[in-house]
Amino acid sequence: MNIIQNGIRLHSTIENFFEEIQINSGTTHHSNQEKSKVNYLDWSFVPQYEDDAYVVHRDWRKLSATEIKSLRATSNRNYYNTIYVGDISDELKEIFDALKFKECLQPKDVHECMKRDHDMTLKLSNTMQTYLNDFANEKPFHFHFIGANLPNIDMVAADNTMLPPDHQEEDKKCMGIHNDGAEPTSVHATYKSGNRFTINLGNETRYFLYVNLSLTQAFNMLKEKLGISVEHVDLYNISKLFFKHFPDYPVIRIPQKPYQYYIAPTDHCFHDGSTYGMTTLDVLMIYFGKFQY
Ligand SMILES: [Fe+2]
Repeated sequence: MNIIQNGIRLHSTIENFFEEIQINSGTTHHSNQEKSKVNYLDWSFVPQYEDDAYVVHRDWRKLSATEIKSLRATSNRNYYNTIYVGDISDELKEIFDALKFKECLQPKDVHECMKRDHDMTLKLSNTMQTYLNDFANEKPFHFHFIGANLPNIDMVAADNTMLPPDHQEEDKKCMGIHNDGAEPTSVHATYKSGNRFTINLGNETRYFLYVNLSLTQAFNMLKEKLGISVEHVDLYNISKLFFKHFPDYPVIRIPQKPYQYYIAPTDHCFHDGSTYGMTTLDVLMIYFGKFQY
């Protein structure tokens, strides 16, 4: 059993929350593992991965008592040292139901849900603003994204900025487990970037995968291993270097049920989303801020 360090912890008021959290034996280069295939509506393809993408082993198991102890958040929670999971309010659930996001079949349907009901979309925006105020720590926050992933993809994140606007789902290249690098900053400054508030608007449980180390901790582990050549480590290559040198470091898998949110500092830790095992569309909404509670 591979030992996890104390790092980015988990907080939730959901009953028996840690019972459903899982851990695995680490990661591998994507070429070493058979990929899950998308078979959905008219889609039938094996997702493509970037050349140096790393994916998670599928040997998930429950956490040991020691692992729960090192993952359970303490009272010193803040927006970059803790991941939060919870249920959204009933008021928000009713608005999402009224907009019929759960009836979306294709990714392009998500924006149609909002276009056809302007009043409800405005109500959603205002209600979200009030709701997130309680998490915002009196810091600014903003809407980032609403959209969807196809079901049964191991690691969903893909950089679409290099693809034409009319690209197909099959054209996407999954980046594997990664850190989000919104702004060019240093490894040691990523904690300042804030975090994301992500809501599952779909019909099924999706997964948030993460390594419970801050980028600073990952950098220090590489420094110890690589010595002076650590100078070449930056925000763009740190994930590939880390998983190359520490393939046995476990990944944590958090189930995110319909209408649950997770809050995570995705610039500051290695992570990805997964629709592995799902059979329906994965719809989600994301805000950026410095959320905590
Ligand atoms: Fe990401």
